[in-house]
Order: sequence, then structure tokens, then C-alpha cells
Amino acid sequence: MADPTIAQKSPFEVELEAGKDYYWCSCGLSKKQPFCDGSHKETEFEPVKFTAEETKTAYLCGCKRNDGTPFCDGSHKEL
Ligand code: FES
Repeated sequence: MADPTIAQKSPFEVELEAGKDYYWCSCGLSKKQPFCDGSHKETEFEPVKFTAEETKTAYLCGCKRNDGTPFCDGSHKEL
């Protein structure tokens, strides 16, 4: 599998709403980072759906080099 495109080498700060579904972009090509806009269609990547458990500020992965989950795990520090 090819490496996804790096959208940015830092997380995206977003406001999540409890109970709402989100689609995190895993391919790095979306123009609506960090969320999917359908740009992955020509790639082997798929968006990652998740439901916010609480209303809060969250930091979603922008480098697309984490473990495939939406939340920043610090992987961008290795780039
Ligand atoms: Fe990147 Fe959909 S645009 S996963």
C-alpha cells in the first residue's frame, strides 16, 4: 500500500459534537481537512468513520502517518 499524502505535519484542531458521526480523511487529499471530501476515490484509501463520544476540542491527525485512527498520536514528530 502506498503512503498517504501528508496534509500537514501537525494535527487539526476541531470542535466535535457528542453523538455526531465524522469521516476522517486517511488519504490526505481532501480539501476539507481533516475530514473526507471524496477525493480518495482514485486511491486505495477509505475515510475512517467515527462517532464523537463527547462534545469537545479534539486534535485529528494531519500527517496521515499514525496508526490509521483519526486522533493524533504524535507520529508527525518523526517526519
Ligand atoms: Fe481522503 Fe476521503 S478524501 S479519505
